[in-house]
Amino acid sequence: GKSLLTLLDWSKEEIEAVLQKGIELKRERKEGKLNTSLNGQTLGLIFEKSSTRTRVSFEAGMIQLGGNALYLNGQDLQIGRGESIHDTAKVLSEFIDAIMIRTFEHSKVEELAKYGSIPVINGLTDEFHPCQALADLMTIYEEKGTLKGLKVAYIGDGNNVAHSLMIACAKVGAHFSIACPKGYEPKEWIVNEARKIAEQQDANITIVENSIEAVQDSDAVYTDVWTSMGQEAENDIRLKAFSNYQVNDELVKHAKDDYLFLHCLPAHREEEVTASVIDGENSYVFQQAGNRMHVQKALLQLILG
Ligand code: CP
Repeated sequence: GKSLLTLLDWSKEEIEAVLQKGIELKRERKEGKLNTSLNGQTLGLIFEKSSTRTRVSFEAGMIQLGGNALYLNGQDLQIGRGESIHDTAKVLSEFIDAIMIRTFEHSKVEELAKYGSIPVINGLTDEFHPCQALADLMTIYEEKGTLKGLKVAYIGDGNNVAHSLMIACAKVGAHFSIACPKGYEPKEWIVNEARKIAEQQDANITIVENSIEAVQDSDAVYTDVWTSMGQEAENDIRLKAFSNYQVNDELVKHAKDDYLFLHCLPAHREEEVTASVIDGENSYVFQQAGNRMHVQKALLQLILG
C-alpha cells in the first residue's frame, strides 16, 4: 500500500478519489450499513504529541471498518529511550499492517516509511498535516459541491496545517491566499512546490501581510492557533506578532456571504478567532472535525483494502 507522508506525493485523481470515498463512507455510516472491509487488519498509532481528533478518529475509524487500532505512546515505546527508527520500523512491520505517526521532525516519518515494509500515515509533523487537509477539502466540497476555482483564505501562522492546506488546494485547483505577519510565512520550498502544482490547475497561491486582502471574496476562511505544542516559550512574542490577525466579525465581512469558517481545532476563542465567528452560522468546524474520521477511513481502505 501507498504511504501518505505529504500530499505532494499524491495526485489530483488520488486525492479526489479519497474525498469521494470519504463522502460515500459517511453516507453509509449514517444509513447504519455495516462495513467490515478491514477485518483482521491492525493500524498502529504512534503519538509523540498529544491529540484528541487524530487519535479518536483513527481508532474509531478502524473499529468501524472491522479492524483494530493500537495506541502506542512514544514515551512508552523503546524509541523514547533511544531505539532507532530503523529498528522500530522493521519490528512493527512484523506485527501490524500500517502505522500512523504524530511526531516532531518530518524526517522521522520518512525514515519510518523507508525502513518499514508497511504504509505510513503522517498524523502531523513540524512541516505537514495531510490528513487534516483531506478533511478540510472534504468539508468544502460537501458544502460547495466543487473545489476548483474557489478561494480559500488562511489567516495566521504559516505552519504545518497551512502547508498541507496550500498543497491540497493547489492539487485540486482552488486558490489559496495566506495572510501572515513577517517572519511567520510558510516555508519557501513548500510554497514553490505548491505554486508549480497550482499553475497546472490555473490556481493562484498568494502570500500577503494584510488579512483583509486574503479574505476578500473568499469561499472559506481558515485559521489555526497562534501557539501550538512546543512553542509555549515564545507565547508572548507570538501573541504580539499575531495580534492583527484575529478572525472576527469585521474581517469576515470581506468574505463571500456564504463563506465557510474552518479551524483544525483545538481553538482558543478570542485569540485567533472570536466566539461570534467560530460559534456563528458560517462555522463548519465540527463537521470538519467529524470528516477527519470519514476521510481517513477512505484513506485506510485505499491503503489497506
Ligand atoms: N486537528 C488535530 O489534528 O487535532 P488533534 O491535535 O486533537 O489530533
